[in-house]
Amino acid sequence: MRILLFTGKGGVGKSTVAAGTAALAAARGHRTLVLSTDAAHSLADAFGHAVGSDPTPVADNLFVQQVDAQLRFEQSWAEIQHYLLSVLDVAGVDPVAAEELTVIPGAEEVLALLELRLHALSDEWDVIIVDCAPTAETLRLLALPEALGWYMQRVLPVERRVVKALKPVLQKAAGVPMPGDGVFDAVERLHAELDEVRSLLSGPNASVRLVMTPENVVLAEARRSYTTLSLYGYRVDGVVANRVFPADGADDWRAGWVMAQDDVLAQVAQSFAGLPVWRSVYRPGEPVGVEALAALATDVYGEDDPLAPPRGEGPFRVTRTTSGAVLHLSLPFVSRAEVDLARNGDELVVTVGSYRRLLTLPAGLARHRVAGARVDEGELRVRFQEHERAEEALT
Ligand SMILES: Nc1ncnc2c1ncn2[C@@H]1O[C@H](COP(=O)(O)OP(=O)(O)OP(=O)(O)O)[C@@H](O)[C@H]1O
Ligand SMILES: [Mg+2]
Repeated sequence: MRILLFTGKGGVGKSTVAAGTAALAAARGHRTLVLSTDAAHSLADAFGHAVGSDPTPVADNLFVQQVDAQLRFEQSWAEIQHYLLSVLDVAGVDPVAAEELTVIPGAEEVLALLELRLHALSDEWDVIIVDCAPTAETLRLLALPEALGWYMQRVLPVERRVVKALKPVLQKAAGVPMPGDGVFDAVERLHAELDEVRSLLSGPNASVRLVMTPENVVLAEARRSYTTLSLYGYRVDGVVANRVFPADGADDWRAGWVMAQDDVLAQVAQSFAGLPVWRSVYRPGEPVGVEALAALATDVYGEDDPLAPPRGEGPFRVTRTTSGAVLHLSLPFVSRAEVDLARNGDELVVTVGSYRRLLTLPAGLARHRVAGARVDEGELRVRFQEHERAEEALT
């Protein structure tokens, strides 16, 4: 089963390209599901077909789903939210304000991805295509389970036992309701499920495609997304440059645009060297409906297989050396000075600008010490050494 995610700046054509890729995959006989977590019904608009919150058939092998984020949110978050509301109630917070306080921005979108987990486990699909929110914010939020991993493994079970033992006393003394088993269960379940979604999306069968238009500001944002996606371990396997003006028969106005776009397209090729850059021409009308979308995707991918398994090793790997190991993390467009590294027990904290990832070190590395780090060819390389060797090296 193949999972393809499409992201990019607002309005560049993510839904169109995602829907087109799905239409093409279905036409070639793959059981295809395309889903969107977006509250705006853009997939319905692209297919020109009503779409429900369950997979809706729109052509042979092709199903479209508009995930009901609100419903998913209520199902997965209700118990936890209920508890938080009871605490805020005791604290005297106005119920309407309290309701707002218990909603994490972006949480609905993230929880909507739980739907993806169910589909991936179901064995019903050959391809699942996700029309993501702009600039991968959702995927970044999926790093949350990893960031909370330490807390979930070590603190939560203890807290749960303590709360259980002291509940009657605490409740009386503090006057604040104590979380019951149901709340702890809900937190643990949610954590495990989100973690599973993240492993699926960063796994060997999943990849992200960046959709962009040939404009400088859009390119700048696509480059930033490439960096953050790599930081969080998601594999980018191609770029779609959409709305490229055809050069033939252009009048002065269009010829001007063709020149400006050529200039940006050259920079795109340079920025994403090593990745396929597919081009999608600016069509004379909106590509709406299965046929128009499949035709667009056929032009975009040409001879390439749109479902080819992603090549290479992915953004994160560890190689062994004689004295220890090297951790490799792709960080395109980033210099060493922009990366901040910190060690926190068996975690490596990697910060790039305002983005931070808590990387849980593989078991073998947890007891090694960091001997050095550098950024080379768009990759962060952190050298780990066994302790004795490290001491030897120092003397
Ligand atoms: N190659 C193209 N030629 C002509 N029109 C296009 C092309 N690609 C997309 N469009 C049109 O541009 C508009 C925006 O496209 P789309 O909805 O796919 O963008 P999006 O990136 O998903 O936007 P949003 O960020 O709002 O989700 C739509 O009306 C779509 O039909
Ligand atoms: Mg869209």
